[in-house]
Amino acid sequence: MGKEIVKNKDDIKRVKTYITGLDEHIQGGIPEGHIVLVAGSAGTMKSSICFNILYHEALKGSNSIYLSLEQSHASLMNHVINMGYDISVIDLVLVQDLSELMSKMASVKGNQKGSIIMVDLGAIRKEIKDMQTDENRSWLNVIKNVIKKVKEHVPIKIMTLDSMSALYVLSKFKNPRIELFYIFEFLRDMEVTSLLISEMPTDGTAYGEYDEDFLSDGIVHVRLTPFRRNIVREISVVKMRTTRVNNDVFSLEFKDGKFQALYGGQNPLL
Ligand SMILES: Nc1ncnc2c1ncn2[C@@H]1O[C@H](COP(=O)(O)OP(=O)(O)OP(=O)(O)O)[C@@H](O)[C@H]1O
Ligand SMILES: [Mg+2]
Repeated sequence: MGKEIVKNKDDIKRVKTYITGLDEHIQGGIPEGHIVLVAGSAGTMKSSICFNILYHEALKGSNSIYLSLEQSHASLMNHVINMGYDISVIDLVLVQDLSELMSKMASVKGNQKGSIIMVDLGAIRKEIKDMQTDENRSWLNVIKNVIKKVKEHVPIKIMTLDSMSALYVLSKFKNPRIELFYIFEFLRDMEVTSLLISEMPTDGTAYGEYDEDFLSDGIVHVRLTPFRRNIVREISVVKMRTTRVNNDVFSLEFKDGKFQALYGGQNPLL
């Protein structure tokens, strides 16, 4: 949430999840400025759900950053193209090398279309190598600088970090709880809506690895649930601050280029 107190509940601006059947159950969307965990195990469509939000925002003319620490540009792009997204209708900016970040921002500024600025692991890794610094903090610093620098040039509505788990592995924090606290502080200062992808621990006791559950403003949980011999995709909003939430579990479908949350889905028995 932003830092100001609103006069009226209708003044709370929200970012849609663009999942039909889910936004209706969270008063229309995620309050702007929230830090939301998108948590789930492998293959639960976490990256796709976040891309879908950024894509629809770009269609409306807003800019976003997608920081991919796990997957290369090519792999992520091929995935969404295979899902049927037409990326020619948005401004997709692929940053392979952070030295070209500023020149790319100039084109974002001049473009009428909304942009998704996609920065992947390779670009950041190169920057860290070039800095020749202690690996420990530099991951986080490079990520922070990317967000800061981009924001200085163009307004940014949403930031997606894919994923927190990759960040932990790469940055080898000495004290992850403290680092995590400062990551959240930093994101709140940036006043962007943040989607943090979280690979859930397999024991299912928490949605993040450290204190993400408590620090985050919202948690969206996606999972794969066995039903007889089928596996069904499910989604629920575990928490969303400043929002009246229906915490029920919905089935999640991706059909005809759209995400949909349904009660029971194709299996009326669920
Ligand atoms: N139309 C489709 N085209 C491609 N993949 C699809 C489609 N519908 C569903 N999927 C599924 O989406 C899954 C991958 O989605 P995505 O990469 O967003 O998941 P993820 O939770 O981010 O996975 P990971 O844990 O690997 O990062 C695949 O398992 C794939 O089967
Ligand atoms: Mg993913």
